[in-house]
Amino acid sequence: MDKKLLEDSLGIIDLPDDGLTVHFYDILFERYPQVKPMFTRDTRLQAAMLRTAVVSVVDHLDDEDWLTADLGALGRRHADLGVTEPMYAAVAECMIAAMAEIGGSRWTADMTAAWTEALTAVASLMLAGYPASEETSGAA
Ligand code: HEM
Repeated sequence: MDKKLLEDSLGIIDLPDDGLTVHFYDILFERYPQVKPMFTRDTRLQAAMLRTAVVSVVDHLDDEDWLTADLGALGRRHADLGVTEPMYAAVAECMIAAMAEIGGSRWTADMTAAWTEALTAVASLMLAGYPASEETSGAA
């Protein structure tokens, strides 16, 4: 995992007022309107929580125990919310689309690759927190 590239690229796109994650939700709800009813909180509050989660993951990239414990617990809560495995790919796609749009000409293919790897790892660690019997293969 290229921590420096993740940090540097986040520095380019981490807009004030949770602009990155607000934009992410705009893209997610446009491309995958079927997930919108799952979200009951105010989108700005949700965007602030998601931004905190993304920054925390980058801060803890070297801390395997934190990643396993915290992302496992976050995954357990997502299992309860009815979040299925294919939804993680949709979220990663929309997050990287938001990043690339905000980054503009400063965004590179290497950054897309680094974030694809990171978000895939986050999804695996969250899914590892799902109860063994949970059905995680539903449609996105
Ligand atoms: C990169 C992976 C993800 C991260 C880091 C993430 C992070 C978070 C965080 C921090 C919360 C706040 C509540 C809590 O801490 O339990 C949350 C809630 C939530 N997440 Fe995620 N999430 C991810 C993937 C997903 C996916 C794939 C979906 C499915 C569409 C999803 C749907 C939701 C919903 C529905 C809520 C509750 C919203 C509400 O109560 O209004 N998340 N997520």
